[in-house]
Amino acid sequence: MTDRDKQVSLSENGDESERILIVDDDPSMRTALMETIKRLGYSVQGAVDGMDALERIARFRPWMILTDLRMPRLNGLELIKEIKARAPHATIVLMTAYGTIETAVEAMKLGASEYVLKPFSMDLLERVIMNLRAGRDEGIGTGLPAQQTENRAILSQDPGMVRLLSTIEGVASSQATVLIHGESGTGKELLARFIHMRSPRAHRPFIAVNCAALPDGLLESELFGHERGAFTGAVIRKIGKFEMAHTGTLLLDEISEMNLTLQAKLLRVLQEREVDRIGGRDPVSVNIRVIATTNRALYREVEQGRFREDLYYRLNVFPVTVPPLRERVIDIPLLARHFVSQSATRNGLTPPALSEAAIAHLQRLVWKGNVRELENVMERAVLLAGHGPILPEHCPLERSHEAMAPPVRDPHPANGSLWEMERDLIFKTLARVKDNRTHAAKELGISIRTLRNKLREYREGERPASINAP
Ligand SMILES: Nc1ncnc2c1ncn2[C@@H]1O[C@H](COP(=O)(O)OP(=O)(O)OP(=O)(O)O)[C@@H](O)[C@H]1O
Ligand SMILES: [Mg+2]
Repeated sequence: MTDRDKQVSLSENGDESERILIVDDDPSMRTALMETIKRLGYSVQGAVDGMDALERIARFRPWMILTDLRMPRLNGLELIKEIKARAPHATIVLMTAYGTIETAVEAMKLGASEYVLKPFSMDLLERVIMNLRAGRDEGIGTGLPAQQTENRAILSQDPGMVRLLSTIEGVASSQATVLIHGESGTGKELLARFIHMRSPRAHRPFIAVNCAALPDGLLESELFGHERGAFTGAVIRKIGKFEMAHTGTLLLDEISEMNLTLQAKLLRVLQEREVDRIGGRDPVSVNIRVIATTNRALYREVEQGRFREDLYYRLNVFPVTVPPLRERVIDIPLLARHFVSQSATRNGLTPPALSEAAIAHLQRLVWKGNVRELENVMERAVLLAGHGPILPEHCPLERSHEAMAPPVRDPHPANGSLWEMERDLIFKTLARVKDNRTHAAKELGISIRTLRNKLREYREGERPASINAP
């Protein structure tokens, strides 16, 4: 947690991401905007001009500032410059009239995220806020156009992979649902972003939901959103990821981990193209392109009754399998050099040379964690090598490999202490990775399913007779 975050959570204003400041010298416009935004569930303040706005930003700390252009004292453009200097992370939206469109472009260069042309409907405003919110949650759209933050190159010389990339490029421009299958760390998410960036939706939101990272109930409200008061604790209306991804792309990461009930609800969304907010009256229609990833063979999950067959067919429109790194060793030198230079640059070092011996060594390894593991190993190698060339001894595999080997089990745990140790370890790991189950499972070297079962076991207070009870 940074100092800034701390201040925010300690302030009495509540969650920063719920606050919006309106800046407009026209009182009736200001009031109308404030009411609309309040109705959306945000906490809102109004400023009468640029100077007033600066004072309020310091105290109120809004995540978003919606400002008019022509105002006494400090006008919209001057205000944007000041905000960028004082609160660079705030999202700025400029309201502008038709005749001043050049000024809007100027505003974007100064750091505004978006502009709306007057007169605009309150529906449009809601959409704009929703999209900015979505981008912010994903860490994109913070002033930079999505492309600059997201367009990461996919490197490969492997003929199979190159062929896969060109087929994907073809399907990107369509609306087709893409199902990406591959081992952990093979680049599934990278591919999903690539598809989005090459699609006509490139400038619309890209929203990723990790289906394994959240407990079932939370995942549902994350996806579907809820109305204010839909259940205890639902104090504001929450827009779900389906709606956030409207006009853009929704990535359903680790889809195999979604439970059967939610699978049925997802199927309905994909068929009807509409979403029922929890506690909502009318369905909301959504226009989304779906990409799903899985590291399990989904048809096997269908066979075993863990995944709905109808949903499988709906997702499997354009299936893609990303080969594991050990099946494309030809890519290893290319990727290794790339990661070496990336890591050196990040650390302000001159990229060290990669010795032939190191390359040969890297090509012999199994890479259970695939490209991500190679990335981590090379990052460490740069630091270990210092100024000299990178040698095999600078490239030890990650510890997770040892953890992936079956743990030594004690058939007679003394007083369940092993069980307790395991439980403590799991909770500590979860705390460290901020409850991200995917990361926790990876660190612990167990599958997400195992982690989930363990957590259920702890919740139900069950204590197995032995630690390796199935
Ligand atoms: N071909 C590639 N070229 C460059 N970087 C790559 C390539 N493939 C993967 N990477 C990098 O490797 C890392 C892992 O990729 P990514 O997160 O897309 O994998 P994943 O398959 O989604 O993994 P997981 O199943 O663990 O979620 C990322 O940092 C990504 O940028
Ligand atoms: Mg992933």
